[in-house]
Amino acid sequence: MGKIAIYPGSFDPITYGHIDIIERATKVFDKVVVAVAYDSGKDSLFSVEERKSFIEKVDWPKGANIEVDAFQGLLVEYVLKKKGNVVVRGLRALSDFEYEFQMALINRKLSEKVETMFLMAGENFSYLSSRTMKEIISLGGSAEAFVPKHVEEALRKKLRK
Ligand code: COA
Repeated sequence: MGKIAIYPGSFDPITYGHIDIIERATKVFDKVVVAVAYDSGKDSLFSVEERKSFIEKVDWPKGANIEVDAFQGLLVEYVLKKKGNVVVRGLRALSDFEYEFQMALINRKLSEKVETMFLMAGENFSYLSSRTMKEIISLGGSAEAFVPKHVEEALRKKLRK
């Protein structure tokens, strides 16, 4: 059976930074499951269904084996249920490290069967975050360089009423 990577996150909304990580993960793993979390500990702007549909509408490279899904509860349990081998996370800067390190260790304690692997975010995307996208749009700016068109439109609709 092929190697399955789970890429979890809140994706509220997906940015080119996440897309870069997903595309690079597809080159390493046979399948990448992008898993939108119900329980990310944050209030979200978009519903899980909206966040999933933004990811599904991305113009993914031909042949890329990507599944978009949502999960509730503990990540490690979801990974085992999906018969995943690895959790993939992107590292943008040193500031991500402490949080990611803690999360990887907790997940390993919860299940020794689940490994976490980190991919370095591309240098063009290392400063992106979903929060800053919301801020740019709500202040009237353009996020064209940071998120796909359909995501920018959805942000505009939601934030500029
Ligand atoms: N490019 C651009 N932005 C990125 C990025 C990248 N490569 N990687 C992360 N980000 C941004 C996200 O957009 C997000 O921005 P925001 O805070 O402004 O919204 C932020 O960095 C971090 O978010 P994300 O990577 O989506 O992780 P998260 O912290 O939202 O999600 C979960 C973490 C969902 C994986 C975690 O909460 C989880 O596993 N929950 C399930 C419950 C569980 O098992 N808990 C125990 C494990 S600790």
